Amino acid sequence: MCGIVGYLGPLNPKDVILQGLKKLEYRGYDSAGVAILHHGKAKQVRAPGKLSALEDKLKNETFDGHLGIGHTRWATHGAPTETNAHPHQVDGISLVHNGIIENYQDIRETLIKSGAQILSDTDSELVAHLIAREVKKTKNLYLAVEHILPELRGAFSIVAIWNEAPDEMVAFKDGPPLVVGIGEKQAFVASDVQALLNYTKKFIYLEDREIVSIKGDKIEIFTAQGAPIIKKVTEINWNPEMVEKQGFAHFMLKEIYEQPRSVAAALEPHTNAQTHEVHLKTEGLGSAEFSDLLKKTKRFCIVACGTSFYAAQVAKYLIETLAQVPVDIDVASEFRYRSPVLEKDTLFMTISQSGETADTLAALRLAKEKGLQILSLCNVKNSTIDREAHIKLYMLSGPEIGVASTKAFTSTLTVLSCLSLQWAKSKGTLLKADEKEMVQALLAAPAQLEVVLAYDKYFKETAQKLKNYRGFLYMGRGLSYPIAMEGALKMKELAYLHAEGYAAGEMKHGPLALIDNRMAIVMLCPKDQWYEKTFSNLEEAKARGGEVLALGTGEDENLKRKSHFYLALPKAHWIVNPLLSTIPLQLMAYHLAFQLGYDVDQPRNLAKSVTVE
Ligand code: F6R
Repeated sequence: MCGIVGYLGPLNPKDVILQGLKKLEYRGYDSAGVAILHHGKAKQVRAPGKLSALEDKLKNETFDGHLGIGHTRWATHGAPTETNAHPHQVDGISLVHNGIIENYQDIRETLIKSGAQILSDTDSELVAHLIAREVKKTKNLYLAVEHILPELRGAFSIVAIWNEAPDEMVAFKDGPPLVVGIGEKQAFVASDVQALLNYTKKFIYLEDREIVSIKGDKIEIFTAQGAPIIKKVTEINWNPEMVEKQGFAHFMLKEIYEQPRSVAAALEPHTNAQTHEVHLKTEGLGSAEFSDLLKKTKRFCIVACGTSFYAAQVAKYLIETLAQVPVDIDVASEFRYRSPVLEKDTLFMTISQSGETADTLAALRLAKEKGLQILSLCNVKNSTIDREAHIKLYMLSGPEIGVASTKAFTSTLTVLSCLSLQWAKSKGTLLKADEKEMVQALLAAPAQLEVVLAYDKYFKETAQKLKNYRGFLYMGRGLSYPIAMEGALKMKELAYLHAEGYAAGEMKHGPLALIDNRMAIVMLCPKDQWYEKTFSNLEEAKARGGEVLALGTGEDENLKRKSHFYLALPKAHWIVNPLLSTIPLQLMAYHLAFQLGYDVDQPRNLAKSVTVE
């Protein structure tokens, strides 16, 4: 997630901005930059990679101005190069941006026709061009920003400065968060309060479609149409627990927003970003030995609980499709109390975020007694399951504190995708070209997750409209079926509303009877090999008066027409679709639960780690 810091005041802007950017590192980024006034012009310094690379470049740079902006960028449009890094500069305007400009292609074409020299691949630079064009007419930065807003579509926040206005900073938010920090004869703008806590505890939280003009020590806020607004100044009284939430209202929200970073971390050990090959790295067995084991394995058995079980269901689809190995999956509480037939050439896997779930642990011990090799996938290293397994994989999500599992689920899906590819590769059922295509698609997933997160305002709006439904039927086919189950679980455990996950093809075998206009049908219908069949199921539901919330790919007009609510996801490879579809389902459950006044981080009756059966 990109991070923004802007500063106007008597301190050294370089220090303030760098320190702020460091506090925003947790959001994840792959390049960084600043633009700070010096001799009446904003001097731009940018670097790909970590903040330390930018710090190195800034070491011998001095600035005599008191205004500057800085940015950590998580690449979405364009690779993480220096040219694509922010701030972008056009004719004296310097700009940082977080989010997505949806109509950037149209804007780009128009700008090129009018003779603009576009240097980067980003959607952000285009906004700098528009402001530069407008400021020539208005001679006023605030007005220039206000005038170009109707030309932009999407979910985005921006901060702009202008060489001709050395004591002015203008920011606008419509989507990604932006706060204004208020100090003694100084003002700040940042993506979250965490970035500014060393300087101030007084903040104004910008709402969507508000513009702030900071001029000298005057802070004014307006609607996008220019009407002044009086905003509340919030004094933050931080306790350590809140600081751990890093500015988010809840751990769960923070963890949802961490997913671009946690998915990237989960991929990192198992993929080669240069060659786009998969090389699964396990602990407890070397790569070559593990590959031999996969080749020999005749059957795979995965046991887990709850969200981890739904991830296992995704793995069944992936491994059977790619590696053509039969996969049995079971919830641990059932597995341990029947008489499972476990043959010697079965590889047994447990999936557990906590590594402490009692039923999963008992299942592991049962399989171990039968002499099977045990592979585990845990988040918590050195947990009991991790310690007792023979071969270990890790989610690498970092601590998950919200009781409802979010980032551990997407990390699990990521590692299981790598395992499936490795298995297929070891068995020789994967073409080189397919390996490259799928690894490339997985490596692009963090940036696509970022795009989905930037649409949070739509998920929030939609959640608001879901309050009055009596219940929810989540439906999907193929890879979307387990995601439907996971979406329903999030709704149940957070918003305490009845929700069921179903295979869409099962509708006519019972659930159709439930359908009326008080039952919301959440239909997962991405453009994949199951699309047409799922679409027919949606029509069946619609024909019976069902109100459909569809999750589709891009501007799918047919799907939109048939749906009461339509939420678009970016076009992605089918292996990535489960990751992308998960985010809106998590966010809608979160927002709805919050609006209903429930404890989002600690839902009633639930615990993070279920160490009793
Ligand atoms: C749901 C959730 C639970 C856990 C389940 C297994 O949001 O968090 O369903 O997934 O209790 O927990 P682990 O993965 O720790 O074994």
